[in-house]
Amino acid sequence: MNLQPTWPEPIVRVQSLSNSGITAIPKQYIKSSSSRPSLAQLARDVHIPVVDLSNLVSADPSLRDETRSLVLLACREWGFFQVVNHGVEHALMGRAREIWREFFYLPMEVKQCYANSPVTYEGYGSRLGVEKGIKLDWNDYFFLHYLPVSLRDEKKWPTLPHSCREVLAEYSNELVKLSEKLMKAFSVNLGLEEDYLQKAFGGEEVGACMRVNFYPKCPQPELTLGLSPHSDPGGLTILLPDSHVSGLQVRQGDDWVTVKPVPNAFVVNVGDQLQVLSNARYKSVEHRVIVNSAKERLSLAFFYNPNGNILIEPAKELIKEDQPPLYAPMTFNDYRLFIRTRGPCGKSQVESLKSPR
Ligand code: OGA
Ligand code: NI
Repeated sequence: MNLQPTWPEPIVRVQSLSNSGITAIPKQYIKSSSSRPSLAQLARDVHIPVVDLSNLVSADPSLRDETRSLVLLACREWGFFQVVNHGVEHALMGRAREIWREFFYLPMEVKQCYANSPVTYEGYGSRLGVEKGIKLDWNDYFFLHYLPVSLRDEKKWPTLPHSCREVLAEYSNELVKLSEKLMKAFSVNLGLEEDYLQKAFGGEEVGACMRVNFYPKCPQPELTLGLSPHSDPGGLTILLPDSHVSGLQVRQGDDWVTVKPVPNAFVVNVGDQLQVLSNARYKSVEHRVIVNSAKERLSLAFFYNPNGNILIEPAKELIKEDQPPLYAPMTFNDYRLFIRTRGPCGKSQVESLKSPR
């Protein structure tokens, strides 16, 4: 199945809307009353677990075990955690954020050269989902493929700002290394061989892509969302949020809690493919983004994914008589068509993959 080649409606850049000085947002962005954010929640930033990764590769096995158990606990209780001492240079993180902020500040004609289409989503975009009339989110984004190398098309990466491609390649390379470290910890925490999940994702042929989110100031933040509730369809996500403004909210039961970013930390979360592979021992947790009228916000979401052509299903090693496989096998290419067609829809997709019993 292929996605249609064009968007169903003319694309409006949220940044242009925001800059135009409107005081009321267009109706496509107004969420139904039950989906609107309660902005009182913004004032209640919470500290999700912060895990110091410096000992994850320690020569001392007891220090490694200790770090892995903290990761496990965070995965169980939150599905989200922040990591510090992750091995990525802070200066590089800062450069990556700055480069992308500069990109979004470029004149519209320049950015339009990268306008994306629903076929691959690569490039400059302003909507997720191709159904006519769907509610839209208050963000613009840039999406690109990094791995496998066969899907990497640097021609589609911005040439401006000048060092953009270079910084992007360096940053992505570091994030792949961090993802590999985390994947090992996730494997061992399931009682599997260290390289189990990496192999299940396709070994050398794993996928990785990046979505840079730009959330402009919004005159009526109480009526809309920067990104609607969703779980990430892929393997694991490493998010670099802006440090001076919150916006990411994570579901905890019936509540949405706002993540308070720790300076120089990444926010890590489990995606649907790890929920499937782990037969739901890991849960991908729903999250969303709220916006505000005073400050814009930028975030870099790096997605580490299975190769698109491999069938992903619960690991045989985790299937027991009293723990039957919960999900039917599916390739990630097929899986991701759902969010690309319908837009963010909470956890409805991974739920729909439940095999009939
Ligand atoms: C995403 C996402 C959160 C954020 O891009 O999938 O959840 O804070 N982003 O921008
Ligand atoms: Ni997400």
